[in-house]
Amino acid sequence: MIPPRIEQTDTHTESNKPRLLGVSALSNKPLKQSIRSTPLTNASDTAISLARPDISQREIDAVVAVLKTPNLSLGPKVIEFEEKFAAQCDTQHAIACNSGTSALHLVLLGMGISSGDEVITTPFSFIASSNCIMFVGATPVFADIEPDTWCIDPKKIEGAITERTKAMIPVDVFGITSDMDAINALAKANGLRVIEDSCEALGATYRNKPAGGLGDAGVFGFYPNKQITTGEGGMVVTDDDSIADLARSIRNQGRGTGAGWLAHERLGYNFRLSDINSAIGCVQLDRLDEILSKRAAAARMYDERFKDEDRVTTQWTTAGCEKSWFVYVVRLNDGYAPEDRNRILDALREQGIACSNYFAPLHLQPFYRESFGFKPGDFPVCEALSERTIALPFHAELSEGDVDRAWAH
Ligand SMILES: Cc1ncc(COP(=O)(O)O)c(C=O)c1O
Repeated sequence: MIPPRIEQTDTHTESNKPRLLGVSALSNKPLKQSIRSTPLTNASDTAISLARPDISQREIDAVVAVLKTPNLSLGPKVIEFEEKFAAQCDTQHAIACNSGTSALHLVLLGMGISSGDEVITTPFSFIASSNCIMFVGATPVFADIEPDTWCIDPKKIEGAITERTKAMIPVDVFGITSDMDAINALAKANGLRVIEDSCEALGATYRNKPAGGLGDAGVFGFYPNKQITTGEGGMVVTDDDSIADLARSIRNQGRGTGAGWLAHERLGYNFRLSDINSAIGCVQLDRLDEILSKRAAAARMYDERFKDEDRVTTQWTTAGCEKSWFVYVVRLNDGYAPEDRNRILDALREQGIACSNYFAPLHLQPFYRESFGFKPGDFPVCEALSERTIALPFHAELSEGDVDRAWAH
């Protein structure tokens, strides 16, 4: 019994309001098959969303059940969600919080990273994986990515390490882990901490170990475009007792354990996840295998259509990794200019097919350029990729017809 869904559009900000222009997406090559011959009179009737959550009656019942109790926050559902999550990631601790961004913030605070420290991360990611470094007053240092896996390149990390480097934040880009053996070896050799940003990779594995549990701490986010959602939410996972204790305290206004509601041992925040959100998370986690296999089936529909397509490539999986499908992104070949990509995105949107340019390079965001003097050309592999990506509609309920429409354009 699947109830009507709430449409989820882009990850956070973009409007995918369909417009009708009726132009060809790729003017320098003929379209394989076009629905332009049957123009849409009202694209919004047939719009295909970029992402949407997979919510069943079970999640709805679980929320209603919590609403009938007095424990809407700081109750048993948070603990249940954390226990299930720690088991999923094979870690000692899981600490629920209200977003993936908060989870990153908690880990950096839990590791004592602060002003004067440097943290190395990828420029090809969602902004939070780098902003969190600035939240604690430290400096983000970028290392370019591998051209095929789109994940941070360990060889580039090596050249970015200085005496101020304290940690690395490899991101499991689009559900694929980085080369974690190489990254952990670098960490060991240089006395660095590893924070695995697994916000996009729940269910992925690396050398048979769950993503998130591959470094000193891992983080997840549960925004509705993610593999599982709690509406908004996040999780820290770690085997490190000290990171876990600090994260639990800092998410709860710096309270200690058992010292009382108005006893604050340190500076803290309200990063708590409610029991209502946690109840959704418990069911989503129970349904993880089902959701992941539906997403993998959607990806296979695209793979089948793109397999002989020589104008685009897709992301390679890191050796040893079993990916978890987060988004379906194609990269136009180098022969295409950034303007070609933008024309294609516009044309898809005009046909009511939501799409996005995951990701714009982080170092070229205006406040990064102003704060650190980054400029085009600093991370050429990332920039060449960012200028040519197209994220296509992708979620568990995608139909063959939806995929045909997106592919045909
Ligand atoms: C790689 C990565 N890191 C961090 C985040 C932040 O998660 P949230 O939106 O839950 O704060 C996201 C979410 O989009 C992400 O994709």
